[in-house]
Amino acid sequence: MDRADRDAFQEGFVEPPDLRSAHVVVVGNEKGGTGKSTLSIHLSVALMKAGFRVATLDLDTRQQTLTRFFENRRSFAESSPWTVELPHHFALARGSSDNVRDNETVEFGAFAEAIGAVEHAYEFVVIDTPASDSYLMRLAHSLADTLVSPVNDSYIDVDVFSRVHHDRSKRGAVAHYADLVIEARRKRHLVDQGLIDWVLVRNRIASLQSNNAKQIAVSLGRMAGELKFRAADGLHDRVIFRELFPIGLTALDPIEEAMRTGALSSSQLSARREIEGLVETLQLPRRGSGLAHLQARHEWFNRIADVYREMGVAC
Ligand SMILES: Nc1ncnc2c1ncn2[C@@H]1O[C@H](COP(=O)(O)OP(=O)(O)O)[C@@H](O)[C@H]1O
Ligand SMILES: [Mg+2]
Repeated sequence: MDRADRDAFQEGFVEPPDLRSAHVVVVGNEKGGTGKSTLSIHLSVALMKAGFRVATLDLDTRQQTLTRFFENRRSFAESSPWTVELPHHFALARGSSDNVRDNETVEFGAFAEAIGAVEHAYEFVVIDTPASDSYLMRLAHSLADTLVSPVNDSYIDVDVFSRVHHDRSKRGAVAHYADLVIEARRKRHLVDQGLIDWVLVRNRIASLQSNNAKQIAVSLGRMAGELKFRAADGLHDRVIFRELFPIGLTALDPIEEAMRTGALSSSQLSARREIEGLVETLQLPRRGSGLAHLQARHEWFNRIADVYREMGVAC
């Protein structure tokens, strides 16, 4: 709790602090290449630009995309003509033992230490995850306040979720990820009565609206009620979402200042609006109106709990 939170608490404005101050955003989906790291990058930068204290955690010990991005960004910042926001970043190192259990123990220790170091000092923690299942992945998911899962406009991606059936005998193996989320939600509710706001974000949407894309939007809408997630429109497939990676920038940075014309193209402007729109859709704790962050977290909880109660979830 920071000072403002403590004052508010003493004045009785907020509930007892069973919520930690950091709002944890986990970006996950067990399919590779759907845009987890791209979304982690853009969400972290958007939150920093909104003035929040942000910590980032890269659990993808193999690819380390988020880590590479922030290394590039740090290096750009050294000679940048403008101020470049940087998060407090942790990269989890790969366990180097031949023994899987030993590696898990080392990785778990590093993860717990990273979370412990930031959960009270930062307002948001953004966690990028690998496309694999592990104890650590499950643990990270059960800490999520907001879970963002990018899905591409393809039935192959949607299939990861769609074969879930309440009758376990009818569940296909590919519905594994949805099972992982259901389990994470159960654990979360047991541990601190918290809830996980699960938002499926369509990513790499083609600019030409195809019949396929429309069908997928309909399928996702249908599955939302069954699996209890919210579906968001997400991001189109745009070069700007990948081309600035080597210099550690995003469409949200003042790249127009570095351009010859001094102006953004319409696609760049749309990219900016898309990210801002996505942040809006996530309905994260808000800054402003004098709310201390922990109060904003409680306000978030009540708002999101209402959404899930309407879907028939007990919370
Ligand atoms: N909205 C987008 N527009 C264009 N390219 C994208 C978009 N989202 C992701 N990509 C590209 O798709 C590939 C996979 O994205 P990435 O974020 O690395 O996925 P993941 O972390 O899920 O494996 C990368 O080459 C990335 O640059
Ligand atoms: Mg990745």
